[in-house]
Amino acid sequence: MQKAVQLVCGVALFGALAASVSAQDVKPDRAIKYRQGVLQAMGWNMGPMAAMVKGEKPYDKDEFLKRATWVSELAVMPFEGFTPGSDQGAPTKAKPEIWKDMAKFKQLAEAMQAASVKLVAAAKVGTLDAVKGPFGDLGKACSNCHDDFRNK
Ligand code: HEC
Repeated sequence: MQKAVQLVCGVALFGALAASVSAQDVKPDRAIKYRQGVLQAMGWNMGPMAAMVKGEKPYDKDEFLKRATWVSELAVMPFEGFTPGSDQGAPTKAKPEIWKDMAKFKQLAEAMQAASVKLVAAAKVGTLDAVKGPFGDLGKACSNCHDDFRNK
């Protein structure tokens, strides 16, 4: 019970902190490094899952579920790093189109987040067959955005 209360308080506090990170407080180079770091962490965790789906690495249901869970938690984090004006300020592959069509960018981010939640549900089934389709869908949701909004 105590733990649950602490957790709830922790989440509320985190929410308040996130809300206080307004664009004005953050220099573009920090925002760029932040979002790239989170995206890197997502890519890092996609790697072992991709290897399992391709059969390059034996399927391990516990590891798969762990990686899928981490990706789904990370998936909500990078996008607050696309602050106004952070199309430049440090080396970045973000296309300026992001800031011209934020609605579409957000929509693609949400589609990817939803796909990551579906992958976690599939990973809980615990078979390679169950995760193959949802993993492919998640990968596609990443490239849908990269195709439009990330420079090669
Ligand atoms: C809504 C758009 C969007 C979605 C969805 C998205 N990305 Fe990206 N991603 C970007 C943009 C934009 C960049 C370039 C960021 C920069 O350089 O500032 C990027 C960069 C990256 C990078 C390179 C980071 C670096 O150090 O430069 C990796 C790795 C990455 N994404 C992985 C993923 C993975 C894995 C997924 C899906 C699970 C994903 N992305 C989904 C937009 C997206």
